[in-house]
Amino acid sequence: MNHDDIIFGILGNAFHCPVPGEFEFLENALITVNADGEILGVAKPPEYSNSPIVEFLENQGRLLRLTDKQYLIPGLVDLHCHAPQWPQMGKGLDLPLYDWLESYTFPLEARYQDLDFAQHVYKDLVQSTLSSGTTSAVYFSSIHLEPSKVLADICLEKGQRAFIGKVCMDNPEQCPDYYRQSAEQCLYETEAFHQHVSGMAGNHGLVSPVVTPRFIPSCTEGLLKELGQFASDNDCYVQTHCSESDWAREYSGQKYGETDISIYERTGLLGRKTILAHSIFLTESDILKILERGASIAHCPLSNMYFANAAMETREILDRGLHCGLGSDVAASVTPSMLRSCFDAVSHSRVREEGTSAKLKAENRGERNTRISFLEAFWMATVGGGKALDKRIGLFKKGFSFDAVLIDSEVQDCDLKIWQGLDKSSDILEKIISTTCRQNITRVWVQGKEVVNKN
Ligand code: GUN
Ligand code: FE
Repeated sequence: MNHDDIIFGILGNAFHCPVPGEFEFLENALITVNADGEILGVAKPPEYSNSPIVEFLENQGRLLRLTDKQYLIPGLVDLHCHAPQWPQMGKGLDLPLYDWLESYTFPLEARYQDLDFAQHVYKDLVQSTLSSGTTSAVYFSSIHLEPSKVLADICLEKGQRAFIGKVCMDNPEQCPDYYRQSAEQCLYETEAFHQHVSGMAGNHGLVSPVVTPRFIPSCTEGLLKELGQFASDNDCYVQTHCSESDWAREYSGQKYGETDISIYERTGLLGRKTILAHSIFLTESDILKILERGASIAHCPLSNMYFANAAMETREILDRGLHCGLGSDVAASVTPSMLRSCFDAVSHSRVREEGTSAKLKAENRGERNTRISFLEAFWMATVGGGKALDKRIGLFKKGFSFDAVLIDSEVQDCDLKIWQGLDKSSDILEKIISTTCRQNITRVWVQGKEVVNKN
């Protein structure tokens, strides 16, 4: 390796999960990064200790040495977040989905025509997700073109890897008059948004546009077909909600006599770069279609506990090898933290496995062997998200983007405590997943660039 190719190196302890359910503790590893923000190498102590590389980087002021209470983890991926709902977080979760959308979401999202409001909220959101360790975020914006551009500009400026969709809704039966466009307008603005993002100065693949039909009830069949055609012709990312609740599923059944997946498939919206939020009620045929197309699922555990009406079949989805990552589904969650999403995904699966009714005998209560582990959840929030997006992110590995989060367990007044002599490496990683709070996240890098530094 030519030392001059190294822009900087980090020497310290790191964790990642190359395989679902397993982790690797990179103890005192040297991670080197090049000018493109890619990882040049990950060396363990015997591999670098006899080389002058550490001294070379140190002399040049290009080495960051971590303390033994600091840990590096891969940047976290949020596969499903509603940017305009940021001010809605923590409101109205007592309502069912349909009423929540009507009473809170649509009136709020309609306000984003006001570009000052959009600037104000989106700056705060992107800062908060970054400082929660979200290095890649897949955002639904609102139905408006100009405010969606504002979100894209802010992500680029702040350095977050972002996948952004201008939301499409044209069905007069389901969308209020004040928050709806014609199919022509949806298509025209989707194209215009794609052009804007692709042409943004300085955007070298950090921000990508996404074709975004909100969900089946909000779109006419004509719009779905037009968007599907555009997405297939241009190899676009697509995001939508899929079989999220009884109400949404029944809507598709009654109107089309089909499942959501069947509708997305036949309208050209189910491809390798499609991200399906939720996907609670999948049939066997749906699963085969998703596998065949290589589409991905964004599991949003906390949202599911409020809106889904049933538990997510995460265990089966992982076992069958479907692409699957995690989403916060802000504002159907109360934090943008993807570590919290990991914890919620585990808790969600545990309730499913154990069952609920105390009136039933233990053996009849739950669904056996359906739990997922903390390491599987962490894999979803890193590698799983990376696979869904078809990007080399989520691992500390040569050729992968250096997207990383520094967890400092020594900050004041927090719950993440590592006890010398009591906590082995697996305990430390589980504690990081379960008890990290935002104060512990002191530095964040995306594509090699430092985007958060709280020191
Ligand atoms: N289904 C359609 N729109 C939405 C939304 O904004 N949030 C959630 N959780 N589900 C949806
Ligand atoms: Fe959602």
